[in-house]
Amino acid sequence: MNQAASITWKSRWTFILAATGSAVGLGNIWKFPYITGENGGGAFVLVYLACILCIGIPVMIAEIMAGRAGRSNPIHSMLSLSRDAGGSRAWGVVGAVGMVAGLMIMMFYSVVAGWALEYVFQSASGSYSGAPAEEIEAHFGNLLSSDGQQFIWHSLFSLLTASVVAAGVTRGIGKAVEILMPLLLIFLLLLVGYSAINGNFKAGLHFMFDTDFSRLSGNAVLIAMGHAFFTLSLGMGAIMAYGAYFPGHASIGKTVLTIAALDTGIALMAGMAMFPLVFANDLTPGQGPGLMFVTLPIAFSNMSGGVFFGSLFFALVSIAALSSSISLIEPGVAWMEKRGWRRVPSTFLLGGIAWAGGVASIHYGAVFDALDYLTANIMLPIGGLLIALFVSWRLPRKVVLDETGMKGGPAFAAWYWLLRYIAPIGILIVFLHSLGLFSALGALF
Ligand code: PHE
Repeated sequence: MNQAASITWKSRWTFILAATGSAVGLGNIWKFPYITGENGGGAFVLVYLACILCIGIPVMIAEIMAGRAGRSNPIHSMLSLSRDAGGSRAWGVVGAVGMVAGLMIMMFYSVVAGWALEYVFQSASGSYSGAPAEEIEAHFGNLLSSDGQQFIWHSLFSLLTASVVAAGVTRGIGKAVEILMPLLLIFLLLLVGYSAINGNFKAGLHFMFDTDFSRLSGNAVLIAMGHAFFTLSLGMGAIMAYGAYFPGHASIGKTVLTIAALDTGIALMAGMAMFPLVFANDLTPGQGPGLMFVTLPIAFSNMSGGVFFGSLFFALVSIAALSSSISLIEPGVAWMEKRGWRRVPSTFLLGGIAWAGGVASIHYGAVFDALDYLTANIMLPIGGLLIALFVSWRLPRKVVLDETGMKGGPAFAAWYWLLRYIAPIGILIVFLHSLGLFSALGALF
């Protein structure tokens, strides 16, 4: 009897917390607000929501289904499902590439998470409180050019991640998310409240929800679609690995709707916590990646309660990053366990590889950018595309119907149709875009 196969989350809720923890991360709090800022606000948000509905949710159901039906790590789950359906062993490669993609994401993710940790301490010590804007901007520049500083924070974050994963699925990951996720929600609510009282909430709301489609470029549509993917942790097996520990045989559909609603709600709330502060201080939301590390500290530095709420904000970011990073390592660790390794050495081996890659991406900016580009624009879309194709075309419809726990009917039919046609085509568009094919074509005509 395989030891790992008998492990399950304490309840369906622990699964929801773990999957939401994976989904909610730097993507929601760091990336979503700034890409919304760069791409003109409301209309972009609307397209992003449509992508979550039509691509993200169907693929997530497929991933969880494959994990729960295979009851193993992504590689072995794909292998056994494919074998039962008379398919090729090559499908196992989807799991293997996903596992590698997880480590590659960790190699830059933990660097950004390290910055967030540094900002917790900086905020708490009041070092930027009342400081002039140029000084705050210079601080971020200094951090980026100091390998030593980044090394310390990146290492600390990697160690935190590894300690949680090493402690196991129920005692480590499950326990961690049961504590971290409610904390995250409380911090976020406090920050939205602070922003509503002290910020220009109306301007923030207008910016996020006024839909002016004339400001939406074709490129923005593709960015929205790619982000829907990254933010739900799809295409690399994290959600599949977590699905393997899904207890019982409840319908997956409702669970996924809950996770997607939480992920999206938290992204929108993060926007509502940030933009009103930005507008109240006459700053601009189109700053790019510096929105969180420069624009926001400038806003906090001007405001009463800025030291406390600034610290709270960066603590929130660090928590969100941690509950995501553990899911980047777990698929590989589960695979090594299945191969007979013990959990602790497996975690430290894989965590160590990711850590070393992180050191490289601190030192070479090009490595950081390449890892980000390769994973988000190429590996995740291909992974998601293959999972969608595998579940909707390779597995017998009856197996899929049984394993999702959906009873058939219109909800099942809609999901199956989205998974067979809409999601693959949508993902393909994102993928072709990331290869620059459209701009090449655009240049031709
Ligand atoms: N979803 C996470 C975020 O939004 C990132 C992530 C991607 C985590 C893929 C796990 C797997 O930050």
